[in-house]
This record gives sequence, C-alpha cells and structure tokens, in this order.
Amino acid sequence: MEIRDLKGVHSAREFVWWYNGHPDGRNLDPDLKNTDTAVILGQGNVALDVARILLRPTSELAITDIASHALTALEQSSIRKVYLVGRRGPVQAACTAKELREVLGIKDLYIHIKETDLKITPADELLIHSIYVFAIYMLSFFMKEEMKNSRIHRRIYELLSKAATAGPSQPSSGQRELHFVFFRQPDRFLESYDKKGYVSGVHLEKTALKGIGSGNQIAIGTGQFENLSCGCSFCFGNLMLTMLWNCTVMCASCRIVLKSIGYKSVPVDDLPFDNQKGVVPNVKGRVLSDNSGDPTSIENGLYVCGWLKRGPTGIIATNLYCAEETVASLSEDLELGVLASTTRLLKLGRDGLLQILDNRNVRVVPFSAWERIDKEEKRLGSLRNKPREKLTSWEELLKVAGSE
Ligand SMILES: Cc1cc2nc3c(=O)[nH]c(=O)nc-3n(C[C@H](O)[C@H](O)[C@H](O)COP(=O)(O)OP(=O)(O)OC[C@H]3O[C@@H](n4cnc5c(N)ncnc54)[C@H](O)[C@@H]3O)c2cc1C
Ligand SMILES: NC(=O)c1ccc[n+]([C@@H]2O[C@H](COP(=O)([O-])OP(=O)(O)OC[C@H]3O[C@@H](n4cnc5c(N)ncnc54)[C@H](OP(=O)(O)O)[C@@H]3O)[C@@H](O)[C@H]2O)c1
Repeated sequence: MEIRDLKGVHSAREFVWWYNGHPDGRNLDPDLKNTDTAVILGQGNVALDVARILLRPTSELAITDIASHALTALEQSSIRKVYLVGRRGPVQAACTAKELREVLGIKDLYIHIKETDLKITPADELLIHSIYVFAIYMLSFFMKEEMKNSRIHRRIYELLSKAATAGPSQPSSGQRELHFVFFRQPDRFLESYDKKGYVSGVHLEKTALKGIGSGNQIAIGTGQFENLSCGCSFCFGNLMLTMLWNCTVMCASCRIVLKSIGYKSVPVDDLPFDNQKGVVPNVKGRVLSDNSGDPTSIENGLYVCGWLKRGPTGIIATNLYCAEETVASLSEDLELGVLASTTRLLKLGRDGLLQILDNRNVRVVPFSAWERIDKEEKRLGSLRNKPREKLTSWEELLKVAGSE
C-alpha cells in the first residue's frame, strides 16, 4: 500500500508498548480525544488486544496492571467505535477463540458483522469441516496441524456468527461499537481535510478469496475501493459520496489508525537468513549455513529458537515446545560428540558473554535485580488495588534494579 507519514497512524506494537508501560513506548501519546472512531488493520490477536483496550470500561481496566498514563488517557477517551479490518473472511480470521471471546464479552458492547460476510464458500467449508480434514488426517501424520487449524477456524466462525445475530440490530445511544470489516485490504491512508498532516481514515480495496490448494485461500484485490473514516453513512461504503462530498467537514473523522498486520524477524549479523520467511534456516533448531534446505549443511554448535526459528506465530507457551525441540537437538549433538569437534565449544559461555558486555560498557541487570523491580512494582500496585504499578522509565527501572 502507499505509505504516507501521517500523524495518528501507529503500529499496534507501539500502542501495546504504550499501554503496557514499556519505557520506549510511554511517550506515544495517541490522540484518543478528538475522534470517536479508531481503525485497526488486521484481525490477529494483537488487533483484538488493542480493540479490547480501546473498548473495555475503564473501571475494569483500573484494576489490571495497565500503565497509569494509559489508564488516564483511556478514561478521557472519546473513542466509541472500533473497526477491525481483515483482508479475508470470518473463516480465515487470524485470532484465536479465547482472545475473540474476551473481546466479544465486553460489557454493553454493540457488535456489527455484515450478514453477507458470513456466507461461506465451498473452499471455506473444506477448511472448517472436519470430515474432509479427517480424511486428510488419515492420510498423513503431518496433517495433524491442519486438523487443529480447522477446529480453530470453525470455532472462530461460530463465535462470529453467533455475535452477528445475538444483539440488537442497532447500537443504543452512546453504546460502544465494534465493527468487524471483512474482505477489505488497505490501499492508502487518507489525510484529513481540516488538519493537514493528520490521518482521517483508510482507503480500502474490496477483496475476493482465491484458492491456492489444500483448502487455503488468499485475498485478491477486486479493483473496487471505498473509504473507511468515521463510519457515518456519508463516509462508509459510499465511494461516490465521499468523492463528491468532503464528509470530514460534516462529522468527526477517524484520527487514529493502528497497523496490526503481523511481524517479520530481521537478520542478525553474520547469521544465515531466509529473507522470504524471515527465519534463520534450520532443521529442528540446528542452524543451516544457507537457504538451500540441505539438511547436511549444518553450522555445528549453532542453534535457534522462537520466532527467529519458526516465524512470527504462536504465544509464549508455543516457545516451550519450540525450545524443547531445539534443546533436544542440542542434547543429541552433545551425546553424539558432534559439538566436541567444533571450536565454538572452546568459547567461554556465560563468563565470556559477561566479559564482552563489560568490554562494551553494557550495564547488566541480573535476575536478582529484576526481582527487586518486580517487588517494587507489586508494592506500588497494592497501594492502588492493582496487581502491579509499572515503572515506565529506564531511570526508575535502573534505580530500583540498583538498590539493595
Ligand atoms: C504486540 C504483541 C503482543 C503479544 N501478546 C501476547 C500475549 O498476551 N500472550 C502471549 O502468550 N503471547 C503474546 N505475544 C506473542 C509473544 O510475544 C511471542 O510468542 C514471543 O515473544 C516470541 O518469543 P521469541 O523469544 O521468539 O521472541 P522475543 O520475545 O521477541 O525475544 C527476542 C529477543 O531477542 C532480542 N534480540 C533481537 N535482536 C537481537 C540481537 N541482534 N542481539 C541480541 N538480542 C537480540 C530482543 O530484544 C528480544 O528480547 C504477543 C506478541 C506481540 C508482538
Ligand atoms: N493473547 C495472546 O495469546 C496473543 C496476543 C497477541 C499476539 N499473540 C500471537 O502473536 C502472533 C502475532 O500476532 P499478530 O496479531 O500480530 O499477527 P497475525 O496473527 O499474523 O495476524 C496478522 C493479521 O494481519 C493481516 N495481514 C497481514 N498482512 C497484511 C497485509 N499486507 N494487508 C492486510 N492485512 C494483512 C493478516 O491477514 P491474513 O490472515 O489474511 O494474512 C491477519 O489478519 C500470533 O501468533 C498471535 O497469536 C498472542
């Protein structure tokens, strides 16, 4: 899409850092006061997390570990409508059921999903119906993942279908609204007419699904466009009107757009890297010296784990299984004596690392110092009936880390 540097467009990661009190994100200062509408691009778990924070009653947020500066801003927020934009349909939504239930369960929230978006194609059916998948499962052990995915997709689809019909057909006055917008991909950000340099919405292209085999479907642009700005009838879904009419003079436009379209690892110096997949090429965590996929080209003594190993998917718990696999490879290599022949083993391990950091004048915060931070945050939280009060500047964190 065309990228323009407009104020009010943030990455969801920055926003998550902001409300979680990450020292590098605390100064984000998102504009939540001059608009009633936020647009979130993407429908993964990060997008859902962000929507939940924007829509949940602040009385409920106040007793969580949300950063105080974010709570204050959310208490003053005028955002009432959140649009979650997905380039594919409800069957392909990237979120998981637990996170979707949490957002759908927000008190007094009006949910809007177009009925026509819930129509499923034969290819969708293949993805969500287990008879087909069971047949595939019988064919190959490796289809186990497909089986799991089909269950997840079916559950998500059921939850969205239920939410689409469960509530009233119109929001009540002042009610907060969550709109799931399917089959739309961002084309460009719209600049506000009245406030130069600021975002006022997103120009979206309608999409259609195209099968690419194994029940998988990708989004293809149809060449039809529309604007998503404040969501009023002048702006939303009516290209002619928005072209003829400067609708932002008639209503508050969207002043905040959050991009939540996933992640990609970046290469680490001197390590082989598969730029397309955004991973260090590996077999079960053993790093390969190039992208050829040749399992014999192993870099002895070098291992990888997490998103850098398997790509940017999965929760923290997924890393446990991922680490088990990598550590199993490492143990196996130790037993086989593979590592004994590498010069890497002659390196000094933790002591060597600490020495390098010392040479570079890097201040190390050991676990015991982290425990001091943890204790202090919990103490501050207990004064406000919160599980913890985050320390949100490097100065504060280092001061507490250094105190005995
Ligand atoms: C916005 C967001 C919200 C999320 N929320 C949740 C959630 O609520 N629950 C959940 O279970 N999962 C959540 N996840 C997923 C979770 O964060 C990941 O599954 C997990 O962090 C992946 O772990 P990792 O070790 O692969 O990568 P990371 O956690 O990213 O760790 C990589 C580490 O390597 C360091 N690093 C990078 N480059 C270098 C270098 N060159 N040299 C040295 N160090 C380097 C980084 O600083 C970082 O500390 C979320 C993800 C995102 C992006
Ligand atoms: N509470 C939790 O457990 C939790 C919280 C946060 C994150 N996580 C995990 O962290 C991982 C990352 O999450 P995420 O939400 O950032 O990423 P994600 O799950 O990969 O979702 C990315 C979303 O962006 C869309 N997208 C990607 N490229 C796009 C493009 N060019 N144009 C338009 N849309 C695009 C994707 O659509 P397509 O599907 O069409 O590609 C999808 O809807 C996930 O595995 C997630 O489960 C977990």
